[in-house]
Amino acid sequence: MPDSIENFLSKIPQKIGQYEVVEKIGEGGMGIVFRAMDTLEKRVVAIKVLKRNLAPNTEAIQRFHREIQMSQAMNHPNVLPILDVGVDQECHYYVMPFIEGKNLEEILKKEKLTIPLSCHIAFQVALALSHAHKKGIIHRDIKPSNIMITEQHVYVADFGLARPEWAARLTMTGTLLGTPAYMSPEQALGLAYIDHRADIYSLGITLYEMLTGSVPFRSANLSHILEQILYETPLPPKIVNPGIPDSLNSIILKALQKKPQDRYSDIDEMAEQLRLYLRGLPVLGEPTKFFYWGKYKNLLRYAGIFIISALLSFFLCYFFSCKRHGPKIFPVFFHEGPNTFSYVVSYPSSEFIFKKPMEIFLEENKSSK
Ligand SMILES: Nc1ncnc2c1ncn2[C@@H]1O[C@H](COP(=O)(O)OP(=O)(O)OP(=O)(O)O)[C@@H](O)[C@H]1O
Ligand SMILES: [Mg+2]
Repeated sequence: MPDSIENFLSKIPQKIGQYEVVEKIGEGGMGIVFRAMDTLEKRVVAIKVLKRNLAPNTEAIQRFHREIQMSQAMNHPNVLPILDVGVDQECHYYVMPFIEGKNLEEILKKEKLTIPLSCHIAFQVALALSHAHKKGIIHRDIKPSNIMITEQHVYVADFGLARPEWAARLTMTGTLLGTPAYMSPEQALGLAYIDHRADIYSLGITLYEMLTGSVPFRSANLSHILEQILYETPLPPKIVNPGIPDSLNSIILKALQKKPQDRYSDIDEMAEQLRLYLRGLPVLGEPTKFFYWGKYKNLLRYAGIFIISALLSFFLCYFFSCKRHGPKIFPVFFHEGPNTFSYVVSYPSSEFIFKKPMEIFLEENKSSK
């Protein structure tokens, strides 16, 4: 039975291990983050306490600790380090430096980032991922809320924490928290074996959102979003934001390929392309060729409506004309009155056909005077 958030919060002790809880900073799928005081080291830290209902069995807990230990092996300026991990009064927690900044999700809600700044952030994330991948660690959950940004720095948080993909996104009341919008197709399929290319995809989605203001696949309906991730071609970012240069458009589309083997083979390759772009150098490699029908959707729709209406009008006029004057070889549109046009179509002769209607009209008027 899922615990309510109030109930869970009330059970959090004031002191966890050597950390004095100060205030709640935020809540994610996996746990609740608090600002805390490290009483031994005399520093401010962030402590993330696992939600109990997500760590129900010893196997999950062992896995959590194992993976935290693995991620402690990382040492990179763009990786938010894990300072400590432990369990106290049934609270499983890990400790990180407290970041005086914002996460990218909060930033994107308030402002639009410039193209160079977006690329710079993506490049820093790619450097963090490159370090992790070389150590055999896959992030698996690259998304704006896991990217912390200060005035000077970009940090990637929550590295390599395995979690049941969907359980992790359920709040304690069992409702869906966040969206699977950043999830790669192979994760959406629930494949057991996920490799580093899943992170490449998620970084591609994050960069897409920074540049366009929205993710390519969105829906309030979970199964619909999964369906889009698996089968739909994303709208090229350049179509959403025409200011995006072709080279950057190609980098994103390459990262967003459905099949992992069609993406960049490793994150260094993607980082290199972003670096070249940031330096104003030509982006190497094959630009991703795509033909996006959606681009012409409206044009095709209007052309179709126009052709159908024209045909319909033609047949209606022809039908009424035949009814009134009997069938003719040439269609009669306007029969009554000295209409210039009607001469041309009603009584076709070489003379009328090759003369301009206005000339005929003027000529007639002249002769009748
Ligand atoms: N080290 C930190 N310093 C300051 N704030 C942090 C730190 N770590 C996390 N936060 C903030 O705490 C909030 C919750 O983070 P959390 O990681 O639990 O959520 P999430 O990233 O949305 O979900 P998920 O569980 O999928 O990672 C976020 O707003 C985040 O910015
Ligand atoms: Mg997080």
